[in-house]
Amino acid sequence: MRQRKLKNLDERLEHFKNWIVNEPEKQKGRWKEAVREDVQAGKQNANIRLEIGCGKGRFITEKAFRDPENKYIGIEGQESVIVRAIEKAEKKGLKNIMFISGYVRDLREIFADEEVRGIYLFFSDPWPKKRHASRRLTHRNFLASYKAVLEPGGSIEIRTDNKELFDFTLCEAEAAGLFTKNITDDLHGSDIRKDGIMTEYEEKFSSMGKKIKYVELIK
Ligand SMILES: C[S@@+](CC[C@H](N)C(=O)[O-])C[C@H]1O[C@@H](n2cnc3c(N)ncnc32)[C@H](O)[C@@H]1O
Repeated sequence: MRQRKLKNLDERLEHFKNWIVNEPEKQKGRWKEAVREDVQAGKQNANIRLEIGCGKGRFITEKAFRDPENKYIGIEGQESVIVRAIEKAEKKGLKNIMFISGYVRDLREIFADEEVRGIYLFFSDPWPKKRHASRRLTHRNFLASYKAVLEPGGSIEIRTDNKELFDFTLCEAEAAGLFTKNITDDLHGSDIRKDGIMTEYEEKFSSMGKKIKYVELIK
């Protein structure tokens, strides 16, 4: 049973191989040029936005669909999950999205300074134990790497249901010298302009009555 599942995953990864950027470090400084033959968005003028931990991709694929002039990159560590995101991109016929398969550690290895306009961190794993704090995607070490690759004025958007992670993030943002904007502990009950696109986790948590916390960190 397990083998059949894996075989199927390999086949799907093979089918989607043109959507996944191999050796993304080699694209450093060149993400605005097309890296996939059919990526047509805005070329040199396109802005780059990425979601780290895009999961099954509902947010990033819909965002790319609504904004065809710009480029989107979905990054996801689990192969069995990223194929679900790529399926959505394929169904939508997107020409402005690529995927990086793997767990990113330091974005500076992949992107040049100021190459990225925006980063989305939605429902990142909270890593509740203190000794795992450095694994949280909003730990100051991660924030320093995001800050380096962001354009001046670029943003990191964060959504979470987890209060501890949210409070931690605000402290780390201050330490990293990022400005906060549009903070709320109830995104869906607030006046903050929303794009109306919920991630898979967001829909699940919202339907359970959980409030979604939100902040933008600005370089
Ligand atoms: C809790 S899920 C949330 C998925 C999606 N953002 C959502 O809101 O539905 C977190 C995802 O982040 C991925 N992830 C965690 N750390 C990552 C990293 N360093 N690089 C890429 N993906 C990562 C995990 O594999 C997991 O699929």
